Amino acid sequence: MCGIVGYVGPREASPILVSGLRKLEYRGYDSAGLAAFSNAHVEVRRCVGKLDNLATLLREQPLAGTPGIGHTRWATHGRPSEQNAHPHRAGKVVLIHNGIIENYLALRAALEKRGRTMKSETDTEVISHLIDEEVEQGVGLAEATRRVVRKLEGSYAIVVLSESEPDKLVTAKSATPIVLGLGEGENFVASDIPALLEHTRRVLFLEDGEVAELTAKAVRITTFDGDPVDRQPRTVTWDPVTAQKGGYKHFLLKEIHEQPQAIIDTMRGRILQEAGDVGLDADLRAGWAKGIKRIVLVACGTAWHACLVGKFLLERLAGLPCEVDYGSEFRSRDPIMDDESLLIVVSQSGETADTLAAVETARERHAPVLAVCNVVDSSIARRASHVLYTHAGPEISVASTKAFTTQLTALYLLALQLGRERGVIDADRGRRLVGDLVALPALVKEALSRERLIERVAKKYGNASDVLYLGRGINYPVALEGALKLKEISYIHAEGYPAGEMKHGPIALINDEMPVVVIIPQDAVFQKTLSNLKEVESRGGRIIVVTDTASPELEDVAWEMLTVPKTNELLTPILLTIPLQLLAYHVAVYRGTDVDQPRNLAKSVTVE
Ligand code: F6R
Repeated sequence: MCGIVGYVGPREASPILVSGLRKLEYRGYDSAGLAAFSNAHVEVRRCVGKLDNLATLLREQPLAGTPGIGHTRWATHGRPSEQNAHPHRAGKVVLIHNGIIENYLALRAALEKRGRTMKSETDTEVISHLIDEEVEQGVGLAEATRRVVRKLEGSYAIVVLSESEPDKLVTAKSATPIVLGLGEGENFVASDIPALLEHTRRVLFLEDGEVAELTAKAVRITTFDGDPVDRQPRTVTWDPVTAQKGGYKHFLLKEIHEQPQAIIDTMRGRILQEAGDVGLDADLRAGWAKGIKRIVLVACGTAWHACLVGKFLLERLAGLPCEVDYGSEFRSRDPIMDDESLLIVVSQSGETADTLAAVETARERHAPVLAVCNVVDSSIARRASHVLYTHAGPEISVASTKAFTTQLTALYLLALQLGRERGVIDADRGRRLVGDLVALPALVKEALSRERLIERVAKKYGNASDVLYLGRGINYPVALEGALKLKEISYIHAEGYPAGEMKHGPIALINDEMPVVVIIPQDAVFQKTLSNLKEVESRGGRIIVVTDTASPELEDVAWEMLTVPKTNELLTPILLTIPLQLLAYHVAVYRGTDVDQPRNLAKSVTVE
């Protein structure tokens, strides 16, 4: 997830681009760069880190001219470095990209065979070379772009400049957003509306499979095959702050709703559907975990909950014994680790000090370390022997939402690949498990569509002072996560408990004031959890059921029923988490707390 802007018109491009990028910095801040035409030649400025670094560079080496393009990067392929920063140049062509090109290795090999030399580790650079090859043959920039995008697999939004046509920008997209801004004698392109609002409110959304050619006077849209597209502009009425949150009131809500796409991004390029298998990134190809006899999963907070689900997945699918520990506890207990024990650390930020300390502890004992991380090239990613990125895009809100569900997705992929490799799962079962994952984003979307009901429930129970969350088996960590979300953003005291443990103590807390959220899908432990639910009912607890199957026996005891669609048992934690995130969010809004930056919390906890 990167930020893209482009400008074509009579004004100097660079101040417009920098100010547009400021509105998009939430999309990525690993590096930033600009390119602009100066006397029919395209000049590029780029640097590592936040936009302020680029602003400093521009003061030292100003960039004059127009049209121009600008980019803030959220690294996916290639570490954050100047070399990997956008724009990328090949011959006459200079280009920016947001997304992931799945077949870039094959394209890159073919380009190198034809004598092209790559200067970066990115998937993006191949696109600039492919377009430049066409331009070199005398093909117009728009047609060259159309020819090239037809060869790309994956998700992309690109904006291209070419020294062969100094009066225009060309943009194309597939599965990644692009919006065009229509001005008076000038036009704009961006990956999100906030970057445009300073200049215009008349916008056109580019659809998947479309290419747009922008000059100062006109915008022309075609399909990838060159058929003209006629689309009327819309007028945006959002204020700039709402716009940055994509129209949502808070980043948290935006990130909750981004989950279907984030899950797609986690599995993108890693699914081998026909073979019923998973093909993880290069350093996790078949054989990498051959000597492993046991796994220890370590993390903090929400990521620790992901580890608890991961234990189920890895034991069930890969047949490997697993333990789970907190980062802060792992090293203080002098853990037994050796070269046959794999440490899996899970971290959104990749900077959490306790998790990083666990990595060092394992390394001292010669244990291999796999990091499941969101932030590319973070400290944990750099210290691990293997990395599985979640590609969830930046998570701005302090409370983790899409990071959690994408961590579960990544662990499912990992368990599946190990299971296939170790012969625990045959091709038929593999195909079913892969198929269920592919179907999941649409089910997450459906679960999200039930938000209005959850909002009503939140208002009804929003004055509670304590809430108990119960779950069993693979969904016990979901109870923990639901309780954590509620306490951190609404400041209501909440506890997650294994449903079967309730009678050993917490049952004493239940009275007719107490909401009890029971996570009870129709699974192998349904009857057992139902008995626990009855124990709550007979003590007057106000039961909020969260299930994938609304049955009369549940309706009998439930004060509220929150349902999600059905999926396979191992993916239910992802779906059942959605109503709990929305419940916590709407309770917090009802209570008027600072949803995106709750008191006393920090996004990455870099102290032990
Ligand atoms: C809860 C939350 C925290 C983090 C924890 C680990 O919503 O965000 O509990 O999960 O601090 O952070 P990372 O994943 O960055 O290591």
